[in-house]
Amino acid sequence: MSEKNVKIIAIGAAVQDVFLSESEEFEPVSDRSAHEQFMKLELGAKADVNHITFSTGGGATNAAVTFVRQGLRAEFMGTVGKDPAGQAVLDDLDKEGVGTSHVSYSEKYNTGYSVLLLAPTGERTILTYRGASTHYHQKDFKLDGVEADWLYVSSMAGCFEVLDRLFGHARKKGMKIMFNPGKGELAHPAKLRALLEDVDVLNVNKEEMAQIVEGESIEELTVHALNYVNVAIVSDGPRGVCASDGKSIVKAGMYQDVKVIDRTGAGDAFGSGFLSQWAAGKSLADSIVFASANSTSVVRYIGAKTGILHHDVKLHDMPLSEKAL
Ligand SMILES: Nc1ncnc2c1ncn2[C@@H]1O[C@H](COP(=O)(O)OP(=O)(O)OP(=O)(O)O)[C@@H](O)[C@H]1O
Ligand SMILES: [Mg+2]
Repeated sequence: MSEKNVKIIAIGAAVQDVFLSESEEFEPVSDRSAHEQFMKLELGAKADVNHITFSTGGGATNAAVTFVRQGLRAEFMGTVGKDPAGQAVLDDLDKEGVGTSHVSYSEKYNTGYSVLLLAPTGERTILTYRGASTHYHQKDFKLDGVEADWLYVSSMAGCFEVLDRLFGHARKKGMKIMFNPGKGELAHPAKLRALLEDVDVLNVNKEEMAQIVEGESIEELTVHALNYVNVAIVSDGPRGVCASDGKSIVKAGMYQDVKVIDRTGAGDAFGSGFLSQWAAGKSLADSIVFASANSTSVVRYIGAKTGILHHDVKLHDMPLSEKAL
């Protein structure tokens, strides 16, 4: 199938992200008694911040932007509030050419909104209001009259009834499903595994896959996930990734050692980067290279969408091995 004809519906969260950076107050502080680091904001003080970036995020809107920048057709299906943050999300999607006719509006909740405090080290603390991106209703996620080749589903905040109906309907209509579940789904592994019966491509990070199937190494986790889905992909941050389609197994390292400015959206860029190639008929290895390049580009910029690659980008080789399973 030519990529021009492929259509993907991206389903899940839509939020506004506001990044505050370049502040002395955001220097990480270590606590002697803990291994963790902290941002210490004095109660009652006013901390100066020298840089602000407004952007939009949410797994599904980030993914939809990867699809259109790669020349595919994409629509976003999800819920926002009737507020300026929701308008900002829709404006970004319009500007990129993502369809918004399946967006629903919450009467009760505001659009998801995050304030991200970026430390000079690239670490961050996030204050997040999930709002409309956690309260989903069956009536807003109907596929009647919707034509698409794939559904790309990011976290639905553990709304299993909506996911169940959506996946069943997609299957009946012959749509394939790629799923990147989040905390809300991972909290109920048995329910999640039951959903996977309808899923073609499952993509999660290593810690997340360990909550779904048994296994120590990333290869073991990948192979065990094939008991549920056709294609399993397990990422492990800068340490690389493992993927299998049941025929071969691909192991890849780091695409490029870059300075991480903001890792927001890395996972979304990886998953959607993969599907933007796989849905257009590219090989498993080529799809993994693009996914890695897309996510590596995203972590170099503030905001989850800024670094998403455009169609004409030139890729370079990366450490990768493929063997028959
Ligand atoms: N520090 C880094 N340097 C280079 N690339 C990175 C880095 N961190 C992440 N990436 C890229 O992003 C991809 C996905 O990252 P990761 O495995 O952390 O996913 P994730 O935990 O699902 O992310 P998210 O928190 O966004 O959901 C990696 O496979 C890699 O290509
Ligand atoms: Mg993730």
